[in-house]
Amino acid sequence: MTFMKMHRLLIFSIMFCISYGQEARPHPPKITTPDVEERIYYKINDEVILACQAEANPKAQYEWTKDNEAITSDFIKQDPNTGELQIATLTRRETGAYQCFASNQIGSKTIKAMSPIITVDLAYLESWDETGLPPPRISAIEGEAVQLTCDNVPACNPPGQFKWYQGDDDSSEVVQNERIAIDAEGTLHFVYVTKSDDLNGKKYQCAIFNRHLNSINLGSGKILEVTKLNPIPDRAPSVLYSKSNQKALIGHYVDIECIFGGKPIPAISWKNNELELITGSSTDKYEFMDTSRRVLRVKNIQESDEGSFTCEGANTQTNSAITALNVTSRPIWEKALSSITVAATKEASMTCQAKSVIRENPPGPPEWFENGASIPNDKFESGKYVFSDNQQILKVTDLVKPDDTTCFQCKVTNSEGFRFGDGCLDVIEPIVITLRPPAVQEITKGDIVNLTVIAETNSPFEIRYKWFFNNQTYDDMPPFVIFNDTSKSAYINTEDLSFENYRKINGTYIRMVYNAHETINITVQVVLKEVAVVGPATAAAPDLWWIALIIGILLLVCVIVIICVVCRRKAQEGVYPLDKKERANDLDPEKDLADSGFHDLSRADDNGMEKKGTPLQFTEEPLSYEDDDSLAEYGDGEDMGKFNEDGSFIGVYMDKKQPAPPVRNGNETQI
Ligand SMILES: *[C@@H]1O[C@H](CO)[C@@H](O)[C@H](O)[C@H]1NC(C)=O
Ligand SMILES: *[C@@H]1O[C@H](CO)[C@@H](O)[C@H](O)[C@H]1NC(C)=O
Ligand SMILES: *[C@@H]1O[C@H](CO)[C@@H](O)[C@H](O)[C@H]1NC(C)=O
Ligand SMILES: *[C@@H]1O[C@H](CO)[C@@H](O)[C@H](O)[C@H]1NC(C)=O
Ligand SMILES: *[C@@H]1O[C@H](CO)[C@@H](O)[C@H](O)[C@H]1NC(C)=O
Ligand SMILES: *[C@@H]1O[C@H](CO)[C@@H](O)[C@H](O)[C@H]1NC(C)=O
Repeated sequence: MTFMKMHRLLIFSIMFCISYGQEARPHPPKITTPDVEERIYYKINDEVILACQAEANPKAQYEWTKDNEAITSDFIKQDPNTGELQIATLTRRETGAYQCFASNQIGSKTIKAMSPIITVDLAYLESWDETGLPPPRISAIEGEAVQLTCDNVPACNPPGQFKWYQGDDDSSEVVQNERIAIDAEGTLHFVYVTKSDDLNGKKYQCAIFNRHLNSINLGSGKILEVTKLNPIPDRAPSVLYSKSNQKALIGHYVDIECIFGGKPIPAISWKNNELELITGSSTDKYEFMDTSRRVLRVKNIQESDEGSFTCEGANTQTNSAITALNVTSRPIWEKALSSITVAATKEASMTCQAKSVIRENPPGPPEWFENGASIPNDKFESGKYVFSDNQQILKVTDLVKPDDTTCFQCKVTNSEGFRFGDGCLDVIEPIVITLRPPAVQEITKGDIVNLTVIAETNSPFEIRYKWFFNNQTYDDMPPFVIFNDTSKSAYINTEDLSFENYRKINGTYIRMVYNAHETINITVQVVLKEVAVVGPATAAAPDLWWIALIIGILLLVCVIVIICVVCRRKAQEGVYPLDKKERANDLDPEKDLADSGFHDLSRADDNGMEKKGTPLQFTEEPLSYEDDDSLAEYGDGEDMGKFNEDGSFIGVYMDKKQPAPPVRNGNETQI
């Protein structure tokens, strides 16, 4: 039991600590309910309850407005602590645009966030006026197209749906089929009439249905008299119903309707704004709402749907109608105003950016408000606030905590209506860099590259770090960087690096210091002084350097061995003079040294070249080897010489395959 209690206490404390980090810090209200704008239909005398809720510290107080004004009506009650608004019995008087303010106190200022607009609307359906007149009579001959209009339609909110009934009792609804259709304005169409459509003096009656109220009102009767005709003649298609223009709202759908008269019943086909035939009864974009294809639904309206849709009715002949779809919209957010958290001393950009659909006038510059009221001019005069981009961006400069913590609202309007945005600016303590390394560091091998960055903050958001080196991200550390977790120092000790690795450390190091709301880049440029001085020849061939050095050393050893041999021989016969041709091929060692600037390397190159050079050609001059084995080793060349009495070899040696042994004269070996 005790253990359980302690366990719970522990969990509670942890949770408290976690929530403390988020909640304890004073911050502006963030409205969570309502979160989107909405139109809600109620019936007359309904009770209406609207909720408003915000996350805030200190706790938010709530106030609703109706049609942008404070609410004074006795019939609307609101609770500033819970955010609830109540209309006990709704009448038309209480309908309108409601908006909630959530406010709290930060520093000495009242901060107000505003909710999206909730429109309280009344669903209603009025009665048909009793005209007292007998129903009008419509006469037609069999085969003619006939239209019965629905007259004096009473007000209906939201817009109703039309139906027709036949006879006196209202239970026999007219069923739409290939030959009978009701258009969007309530007119009943007969593609062609037959005697069976004549109700023998009884009337056709139009009705309007309010889906929201689930109620229907019957009115406007018409009597149809049809004269028989035999045979019924064929008739070419005629357009009974089509709209030349239709508005379509971005993101919504639109129904385009086309009714043809004619006999036989014209078959209907559609072409879209790209003049492509619409096939299939339902796709992602198009759907036929009835089997006769009189109603085409264009779904998820986009700007690309703007243009002319063509319907064609065909029996033995054809006819067609065109509906121009005008795609339009209230301002469309490109970047809606939203809440941001920014560190003090920085600047904040509040953005309220919206567009109209293509080919329509763009919205005017947004209207801005601060905490629900217009912004005092001195904020702009002092340069504290700066507008840019046609007032779509409001910059707050040189942020101060908590004075600049505030909420903004914006309203963007175009020909189709407006949109409202809300966003708060929360100013937090900045990250302070207490130690930063020199920005440019010129390094000689043996130096320490100093990359130590130390940062502190009083904000509750944890500081994190990231490394970049020459545009590459390093989750741990760039190559050769040592990080001491105790002292938090970061450095490169160039003394411990090989020359090859040392050459890799130049470039740009970025220590990114960041938290959830701020990023600071500390940049260090490392320049290698030593490498910079040496000419491009060395830098160009870094890989050959070692190979060249090893070859150089090996050749040097060979040369020394051979020199020893020659010296011994010289002691016996004198010096072998270098051939003129050899001199010509040999590079000047002094010049090489000057060119390359690197002693060992130039030496290696020099030797390497000589090895590949023209083989030595002995003419008259004798050359002796210590023994016969060495001679055999150096050539299967034609032996044209002979041995001296003392055993030394005299003659001409012509090498065919292998280079001659490298031989140096005395001067060279002294180097
Ligand atoms: C489409 O409707 C808008 C708004 O009513 C109007 O300004 C515009 O001229 C119309 N465009 C066309 C092509 O009819
Ligand atoms: C690195 O540079 C900073 C600032 O110049 C200096 O305070 C610090 O002592 C240096 N660290 C090392 C290890 O040299
Ligand atoms: C890093 O990227 C920038 C911009 O893409 C480029 O100008 C620069 O040369 C790059 N630096 C290195 C070392 O690759
Ligand atoms: C890290 O820094 C601390 C304090 O400056 C020092 O005592 C320690 O020797 C360093 N550790 C290493 C591995 O260099
Ligand atoms: C490093 O130095 C070399 C030689 O000076 C230079 O060619 C190279 O561009 C430098 N690299 C960077 C990343 O700065
Ligand atoms: C910091 O540097 C990184 C890497 O170059 C870059 O991606 C980032 O945008 C920089 N951030 C800032 C605030 O400059």
